[in-house]
Amino acid sequence: MEISIIGSGHVGLVTGACFAELGNGVVCVDNDEKKIEILRKGEIPFYEPGLEEIVRANVGEGRLRFASSIPEGIKNARVVFICVGTPALSSGKPDLSAVEKVSKAIGESLTEYKVIVEKSTVPVKTGEKVEGILRRTVRNGVEFDVASNPEFLREGSAVKDFLKPDRIIIGVSSRRASSVLVELYEPLCAPILITDIKSAELIKHASNAFLAMKISFINAVANLCDLAGADIKKVAKGVGLDKRIGESFFEAGVGYGGSCFPKDVSAFLHIANEMGYNFTLLKEVEKINHYQRERVIKDLEEFLGELEGRTIGILGLAFKPFTDDVRESPAIDIVKMLQDKGAKVKAHDPAAMNTFSDLYPEIGYVSDPYEVAQGADALLILTSWPQYHYLNLKKIKKLLAFPLIIDGRNILDATKAVNAGLYYSSIGRGKLKP
Ligand SMILES: NC(=O)c1ccc[n+]([C@@H]2O[C@H](COP(=O)([O-])OP(=O)(O)OC[C@H]3O[C@@H](n4cnc5c(N)ncnc54)[C@H](O)[C@@H]3O)[C@@H](O)[C@H]2O)c1
Repeated sequence: MEISIIGSGHVGLVTGACFAELGNGVVCVDNDEKKIEILRKGEIPFYEPGLEEIVRANVGEGRLRFASSIPEGIKNARVVFICVGTPALSSGKPDLSAVEKVSKAIGESLTEYKVIVEKSTVPVKTGEKVEGILRRTVRNGVEFDVASNPEFLREGSAVKDFLKPDRIIIGVSSRRASSVLVELYEPLCAPILITDIKSAELIKHASNAFLAMKISFINAVANLCDLAGADIKKVAKGVGLDKRIGESFFEAGVGYGGSCFPKDVSAFLHIANEMGYNFTLLKEVEKINHYQRERVIKDLEEFLGELEGRTIGILGLAFKPFTDDVRESPAIDIVKMLQDKGAKVKAHDPAAMNTFSDLYPEIGYVSDPYEVAQGADALLILTSWPQYHYLNLKKIKKLLAFPLIIDGRNILDATKAVNAGLYYSSIGRGKLKP
């Protein structure tokens, strides 16, 4: 099938490359000419494991192409996926201007029947808006359908997630649209749930809000574990082994970040409010998430006193491992709080130092985790990159000016840290002395 993807970012490029891998002809469109130039050279504008290989292979086979204009990009497509960003405005409301702009441009270029699919995460009833825009712009007599097909891939494992999804949600208002989309997705052999458009839109926001809630819940329990002297890892395991609850997204730490959960929780809250429902549960989810960042600073102060003039080393800037994405990363808030308190920061991340330096060019970036420890008054672990799991803790102890590790992702063995002569504080496993 010929398909077109509008917006070639983390979701659009993965979607386009994976559909090409399944044998479809795909044109990925983006209005960022530089991005299109990079892609045409066979390079990937962001870090995502496994993506470069399938992009190159499918460009080579002639199944994947790139374009910077919507009319050119959608000309032969039967399905057009809208994959542009929907960031939060300062009010928490999602900014749908890119979706609206793209819908208008698609409407103006439509010459024959196509299914226009919202894959961007959008609030319930956006499908109605998109349909309205298309109706106003499309030429007389040209037919189309609007559909919602939310995406659940995770950065860092996006290709695998796309090709082996738990489920595919297809929100449609016509049989014609559902049969086109089912035909497209059938090769993945995943469960397909067909719903109306509004339900599909809600499924995405409800899923992300639920996962964020799970993270905030276990973080709240971790804070209680610290007070009670219990071990959150054991508590989370014991609770999560209950199949009704499950172990995933049940790791205590410095909270969720990234381009999805924070904005989707606040968008969901906002939409609920607009529609007359006060979703107070989600307000608590946000509050707990923010507190997890603040508690790291409190923990540091408990060991070091005033942070003015102290040097704090940070391991991990990306919002999670295997990505260079720092959008809403906990490290952003934590660095800001440290700087406000007069501390100096130096940091390491295997992939995200470039992206982070766009936000904080002034902090020290080093190419080795041990260099971060050299002369620092504490080491904070903020991302659970595998290479941080097996640090030589005796070496770290020797390098640090004050032997303190605050493990914001609970990845180190507490006994080993203490035996190496370190003060060790994590999230929900107490504060340990050497
Ligand atoms: N990143 C994720 O893990 C993820 C997962 C599931 C869903 N989503 C959702 O998917 C959507 C896209 O997210 P993303 O992370 O891919 O964003 P992104 O910022 O990585 O990519 C968006 C792309 O759209 C392009 N764009 C913007 N306006 C355009 C226009 N008028 N014409 C053509 N291209 C345009 C941008 O240049 C950019 O390349 C969002 O709604 C997001 O919430 C993201």
